[in-house]
Amino acid sequence: MKIVILAGSNRKAATSTKLAKYAGRLIEQKGHSVTLFDLYRTPLPFYSPDDYGVEHAELIVLKQSLVEADGIVLVTPEYHGSISGVLKNALDHLGQDHFNNKPVLSVSSSGGAVGVSSLTQLQAMVRNLHGINSPEWLSIGGAQRKWFEGELDSYEIGQDIDDRINRVVASFLDLTKLVRGQSQPAASNPVQ
Ligand SMILES: Cc1cc2nc3c(=O)[nH]c(=O)nc-3n(C[C@H](O)[C@H](O)[C@H](O)COP(=O)(O)O)c2cc1C
Repeated sequence: MKIVILAGSNRKAATSTKLAKYAGRLIEQKGHSVTLFDLYRTPLPFYSPDDYGVEHAELIVLKQSLVEADGIVLVTPEYHGSISGVLKNALDHLGQDHFNNKPVLSVSSSGGAVGVSSLTQLQAMVRNLHGINSPEWLSIGGAQRKWFEGELDSYEIGQDIDDRINRVVASFLDLTKLVRGQSQPAASNPVQ
C-alpha cells in the first residue's frame, strides 16, 4: 500500500517530525511505501481562494501523492490546544479529492502530557474532508518527547511508547487494508 505522511511542524528539530519518521520507518518495515512530506523542508504558499488555478510545484507533488495514497498520516505539534498553522494551511489547499474514503491516522506532539486537543480538532477536519478516522490515535507529550530529541538512529525509545506506536500503526494499516479491499473482515458470529 501507499502511505503519505504529512509532517506539520515548521521547526527544524521538531519532535513531531521525528515521530513521523519513526512511524514511517515502521510502515516501510511492514512492506508498504511511504512518502513523507515535511512542511518545514517544503513550505507551501499561504492558501488564498483568490489563487484558484494558480499552481505551485510542491503542491502539485503533494496533491498527486495524496490522490494515489491508500492511507494518510497527519502529524502536528499541539499549538494553543489546536494544530499548527502550517498544517492547517496545507489542509486548506486540499479537499475531498485527496481524502475521500481514505483512512487517516492523527498524530501529535505536545508540551503537556498528551496532545488530545489537537487530535480531536484534526479528526474533525478529517471528517469534513470525508476521510475515515482511524479509531486509534497517537500523541507523545512531556518527557516522552525526549526520546525524539536525538538523531533518528540514536533514539532510545521507552518500551511503553514504542509498544503504543507499534500498536497504533498496526491498527491504522489493518483499517487501510480493509478499506482498500486488500483483506477480508473477520467473520462475524451469525445471528441466532
Ligand atoms: C505557539 C505554541 C503553542 C503551544 N501550545 C501548546 C498547548 O496548547 N498545549 C501544549 O501541551 N503544548 C503547547 N506547546 C508546546 C508544544 O506542543 C511542544 O513544544 C511540542 O513538542 C512541539 O512540537 P515539535 O517538537 O514538533 O515542534 C506550544 C508551543 C508553541 C510554540
